[in-house]
Amino acid sequence: MRRKAIDDLMCAGNDKPKTLGLFDLTIMGVGAIIGTGILVLTGIVAATDAGPGVVFSFLIAALASALIGLCYSELTTTIPSSGSAYVYSWITMGEQIAFFSGWTLLGVYITTTATVANGWTGYVASFLREIGINLPHSLTQSPFTGGLVNLPAVLIVLLITLLLTRGMSESKVVNNVLVLVKIGIIILFVIVGAFSVKSSNWKPFLPYGVKGIFTGASTVFFSFLGFDALATSAEDCKHVQKNLPIAIIASLTISTVLYIIVSLVMTGDVQYNLLNVPEAMSFVLITIKHPIVAQIVSAGAILGILAVILAFIYASSNIAMSMSRGGFLPPIFSKLNSKTQTPNRSLWLIGITTAVCAGFLDIKNLATFANVGSLCIFFIISLAVLLLRKQHPELKRSFKVPFGVVIPILSALVCLLLLFNLPASAWIKYIGWLAIGLVLYFAYSKSHVIY
Ligand code: ALA
Repeated sequence: MRRKAIDDLMCAGNDKPKTLGLFDLTIMGVGAIIGTGILVLTGIVAATDAGPGVVFSFLIAALASALIGLCYSELTTTIPSSGSAYVYSWITMGEQIAFFSGWTLLGVYITTTATVANGWTGYVASFLREIGINLPHSLTQSPFTGGLVNLPAVLIVLLITLLLTRGMSESKVVNNVLVLVKIGIIILFVIVGAFSVKSSNWKPFLPYGVKGIFTGASTVFFSFLGFDALATSAEDCKHVQKNLPIAIIASLTISTVLYIIVSLVMTGDVQYNLLNVPEAMSFVLITIKHPIVAQIVSAGAILGILAVILAFIYASSNIAMSMSRGGFLPPIFSKLNSKTQTPNRSLWLIGITTAVCAGFLDIKNLATFANVGSLCIFFIISLAVLLLRKQHPELKRSFKVPFGVVIPILSALVCLLLLFNLPASAWIKYIGWLAIGLVLYFAYSKSHVIY
């Protein structure tokens, strides 16, 4: 239960070059948030859970994310460290919770990236099919879904890891372009789709009742994951105290507005019960007779999703680097490359592990693990805000969550509510991951922690 002295952590990372400004951070947030969730889940949730009421599911998930986002903002501005939840819990709750937070974050970011890489393969395969190229089933599916390996997912994860090892400036330019393409195709979809909206498609608006909205909300929550990954960029930020909270809230707001408009247009263009397809956006465009726009949107989605993969590999390598700095992982993982100032060994550790998961595990198992792990972390984050205020009232907080303890408590309760709604199978996988962590902790970390 030993807690880390806050001063020891404040100077870590001071030697890293500060390359990310407010625009880059906001773009990076949007890049991490908008991805497989909106492109793949919206149609499925509308068809099977919520009907056109999926728009309310997005609103509820957005509200939950905003509460958690505010808590993150207070912590990142008080303790600007790339370790995110791992560092906040070491300072407020002690060594063991810190280890398990870091370990959970690694698991969550690896599985989220692998989920997104799987969704990416789906878009690539369908795009190529439209132009007459059929990828073999055995090389686009994991052994769990009747294939051998999801090869495109493996290759793209390794390629993006390679890009990240070249340095933040190069990655930043590529990332900004990818995100602008992604926002561009969403706006294109909205403009073209808006002209074909028929209000009759919105009737009934809530075919599955209020319960369907809430079931939908816990699924589309995945679409908002990514705002938390921004917190791991604290050591690369210019004016972190001002820019990071603005970027977290701005990227959440932009994503929420786009999600709401997309779900309204989608369900207004096509009856909700026909939307149970993985590429709902291009399906809708083809149905309303815009096949060329559909191909453009698919091509843009293929590029845009890459930004999510980039943001999450970057975030998880930062966590591995921080954990290594604290002695929880071997010291080689915190060594920065002398030329690019990037933690290349951490990047390859994460990149290769993610590639293996993306190649050999299926999208559903990966996504449910990511949901349980994220919510556990968000619960810890909400508590850490309250504890840090009590333990270190003297610290300068350039951003403080308004209304006293109300928002952190609400945020913790929302996490618990969503956690208890998740299936037991997801919990079992998470406990399995923690068990592996327990072995690592007692075999290595416990005797190497640095105070
Ligand atoms: N929020 C990210 C996505 O939807 C993980 O792809």
